[in-house]
Amino acid sequence: MTAHADGTVALVGCGRMARALVRGLIAAGHPPQRLTGVSRTGRGARALAEEYGIRTAGTVAAAVRDASVVVLAVHPHETADALAELAGATTPRHLLLSLVASWRTEAIAARLPDVPVVRAVPNVAVAERNGVTVLGDTPDGTALAAARGLFDGLGQVLVLDEDLLEAVSALSGAGPALVAGFAEALAAAGRAQGIPAVTADLLAARAVCGTGALLAGGATPAAVIDSVASPGGMTEAALRRLDEGALPESVRQAVDAAVRLSYGRLVTA
Ligand SMILES: NC(=O)c1ccc[n+]([C@@H]2O[C@H](COP(=O)([O-])OP(=O)(O)OC[C@H]3O[C@@H](n4cnc5c(N)ncnc54)[C@H](OP(=O)(O)O)[C@@H]3O)[C@@H](O)[C@H]2O)c1
Repeated sequence: MTAHADGTVALVGCGRMARALVRGLIAAGHPPQRLTGVSRTGRGARALAEEYGIRTAGTVAAAVRDASVVVLAVHPHETADALAELAGATTPRHLLLSLVASWRTEAIAARLPDVPVVRAVPNVAVAERNGVTVLGDTPDGTALAAARGLFDGLGQVLVLDEDLLEAVSALSGAGPALVAGFAEALAAAGRAQGIPAVTADLLAARAVCGTGALLAGGATPAAVIDSVASPGGMTEAALRRLDEGALPESVRQAVDAAVRLSYGRLVTA
């Protein structure tokens, strides 16, 4: 057991990503009393306490006092303030797990000297223990193992060079929203064909879930396409239209826009 593996976690920031994490951790058997939330107005922390039974703290210092792992889950523009509060409250016995986009590990470490820092990019599917979390590689093997320990029960965990994390945030962090956008478009197309709304929504959602299961089982996207699209058939006609409508190029541009935004506000020191 590492020094950070006693399961006490402080969540600094209790919004969308923290909610998904709390839900997944509790579903994985993490005791809610070992999770303490703190948020700027207190609203987010109170909501998580009411819904999941976690503890709340009135200040960042009180939240981290008895925690071994501190999860930083605030927006990039809120991060400098949150780090200023953490600077007086964290010690080398803490592990700081930053979920914040656009803040390089060294920029966070510069504000929290001697505190081990690992950067993580989870996605909201950790709520269903079906997510993927990418950890930024670090020579600190103890910190990396502790970070992995927190996310292991919530889906797949990968370790990649930090230089890839802005692109990973766009592809994987934002991925569920992009895929859900496609599901919405598929359902709308079904409604336009006269399928009742509830049924069209269900069929589109099941198409996404089923495809996800096939891909998770090891099928490549090309193999899934091949298993559906017979030559000259309906699927082939639909796919041709998607290509003409430039779906791949639209998706490439969408990811590129997110990456450019992230680099535009990158904090490196
Ligand atoms: N959403 C995702 O799918 C996702 C995926 C990967 C990474 N991330 C990263 O996770 C971070 C948070 O995103 P989000 O979508 O969860 O944001 P969000 O829903 O807007 O939540 C932000 C939270 O931060 C709190 N906060 C702001 N300043 C604070 C401070 N100084 N001290 C304590 N709490 C403070 C807010 O408090 P109140 O509740 O009191 O207003 C709120 O609870 C971002 O950096 C994002 O890049 C998000």
